[in-house]
Amino acid sequence: MITLLQQTEGFSNPNIKLEQYCIDAKSAVDIVFFAGVEFNDIKNRLILDLGAGTGRLSIACAYLQANYVLSVDIDFSALKILKKNIRNYGLEAIVFPICSDINHFELLRNVNPDGFYITTIMNPPFGVQKKTADRSFLAKAFNISHVVYSIHLANPNVHQFISTYVKKFNWAIDYVFPYHLKLAKTYKFHKQKTKSINVNIYRFKRKKES
Ligand SMILES: C[S@@+](CC[C@H](N)C(=O)[O-])C[C@H]1O[C@@H](n2cnc3c(N)ncnc32)[C@H](O)[C@@H]1O
Repeated sequence: MITLLQQTEGFSNPNIKLEQYCIDAKSAVDIVFFAGVEFNDIKNRLILDLGAGTGRLSIACAYLQANYVLSVDIDFSALKILKKNIRNYGLEAIVFPICSDINHFELLRNVNPDGFYITTIMNPPFGVQKKTADRSFLAKAFNISHVVYSIHLANPNVHQFISTYVKKFNWAIDYVFPYHLKLAKTYKFHKQKTKSINVNIYRFKRKKES
């Protein structure tokens, strides 16, 4: 699957304001296997890939037998590439691109008539360009999902913020998986060809009503 994802097309004109970079293929596979194999949260699930970009996480979920994947991104040009990528793998009946700002995206009940269990898998902006970008993604995911996987910078302040923020939604951190993302040179100001970034992959769960 790593080779297959490496062959997908990435951003043609990445937008720094949207913190666009394409996840490396190995990391996409590791994260999706973490969710799908360790926790059985992909097969037969409705997957939301919030900030889907050019679609590597969405495609990996489709290959792990997700029922449907809704790939949401604000950038129409990124979704055009995602569409090309899913067409190349014949995944048009499983992966559905949706162009929306995450803050305005709503999942109506009639989009999920079969009552599928909803897993969100996302690699959101870290909030480097726009301070609150990461929290809008978390808030949206908590409002519409049963379980959430999300990648964030490994940093004590970020962890502290997330630990407090989840409580507002009556969610909890279930698992933290320390990981190294390999970021390929995307912007002119990137000096190295690739750079390893320390991140945490979080698994969040809704707290049981007491
Ligand atoms: C770090 S990139 C991740 C792309 C892709 N998921 C991947 O892992 O390769 C973050 C993505 O979030 C999208 N994005 C940023 N702000 C957004 C917003 N307000 N609503 C929806 N998508 C947004 C960007 O266009 C970008 O594709």
